[in-house]
Amino acid sequence: MGGVPERIIRESHAMEAVIAEAERAARTEAKVLITGESGVGKEVVARLVHARSGRAGRSLVVVNCAGVPDELLESELFGHMRGSFTDAVRDKAGLLEMADGGTILLDEVGEMSLRMQALLLRFLENGEIQRVGAPQPSQTVNVRVIAATNRDLSECVKRRQFRQDLFYRLNVLALDVPPLRHRGPDIAPLLRHYLTAFAIQYRVPAPRLSADAMYRLQLYRWPGNVRELRNLVESLVARFPGQRIDLAQLPWPVQQAAPLDLDRSSTRPTGEILWDAIRDGGSFWSVVYAPFMSRDITRDDVRFVVAKGLEHTGGNYTTLVPVLNLGNRDHKRFLNFLRKHDCNEPARPSRTLGLQRPAA
Ligand SMILES: Nc1ncnc2c1ncn2[C@@H]1O[C@H](COP(=O)(O)OP(=O)(O)OP(=O)(O)O)[C@@H](O)[C@H]1O
Ligand SMILES: [Mg+2]
Repeated sequence: MGGVPERIIRESHAMEAVIAEAERAARTEAKVLITGESGVGKEVVARLVHARSGRAGRSLVVVNCAGVPDELLESELFGHMRGSFTDAVRDKAGLLEMADGGTILLDEVGEMSLRMQALLLRFLENGEIQRVGAPQPSQTVNVRVIAATNRDLSECVKRRQFRQDLFYRLNVLALDVPPLRHRGPDIAPLLRHYLTAFAIQYRVPAPRLSADAMYRLQLYRWPGNVRELRNLVESLVARFPGQRIDLAQLPWPVQQAAPLDLDRSSTRPTGEILWDAIRDGGSFWSVVYAPFMSRDITRDDVRFVVAKGLEHTGGNYTTLVPVLNLGNRDHKRFLNFLRKHDCNEPARPSRTLGLQRPAA
């Protein structure tokens, strides 16, 4: 990984909002704390903040704070003097010095020991660098600090695993990257992006996903987020170049993905179940469109979901895009679908006034 940020693929409103926040953050010098589950794209977002900032001409240095013994992390960050420990055969600059004028990403900052937290706090207060083994600080540097973690740092503060003063210092601008399962519209474009990218890298024709495979991949919960998706696509390209990928070629957990329990004996109306799945981040296309096209749900179910959405938007069809997780470029396709299948007349009249028909 690493390098200049590749294209950040996104169609979801949620991710679009994160990118907009990151671009706003880039125009400031404030510290940024990026949170989110493993593999959601925290580093990608950090790289965007750096690349869009006035520091873009200087380096972005990434330090992984997890799993590194204290002494090593201290010397990595602050540098060391010759003879300060056995392997220190010459003076060495730390990463904070190397990032002077640029940005440092402290990845997995939640894993830092309390001792390292104290050293980091001291640095954040005055920008002074004291190399390991040096009697006093040698210089001050100007580094923008971005921290990332998949932990809930305020919880760590409560449990006294993370210093409160450090938390407040790092958490000036907060960017939370949502998990992929709450960004339904991003899944299909990410799949297409990586199918093409790995096909080019391996110099093979890209595999094609069957409609059923695509559907299941969109229902799957992606516990490992974008990283898991990327790895899965890489293995599909390697194993099935130029071939058609159906359900059977997908890993077992993906084949099993069926969060919508459309059990007919259930007393819950289907529309309610669909609506919950949308509120949970599923996209209209995978939650409603796909089962409608395969006749698993009825026109009234579709109308129910649309009516629910319209209740949220005060009857406005345009602002349904984020509510139904449609994807930012899909609005026209959505209206065409409603018109074609006669679904734009909600099943129940909405209680909200001002219900509009889509523009013809
Ligand atoms: N929106 C996106 N478009 C394209 N690629 C992405 C996107 N988000 C993440 N990736 C890719 O997914 C992988 C994981 O992203 P990244 O390393 O930024 O996640 P992370 O949140 O820092 O994960 P971890 O918590 O494990 O460090 C990387 O290969 C990255 O390039
Ligand atoms: Mg990371």
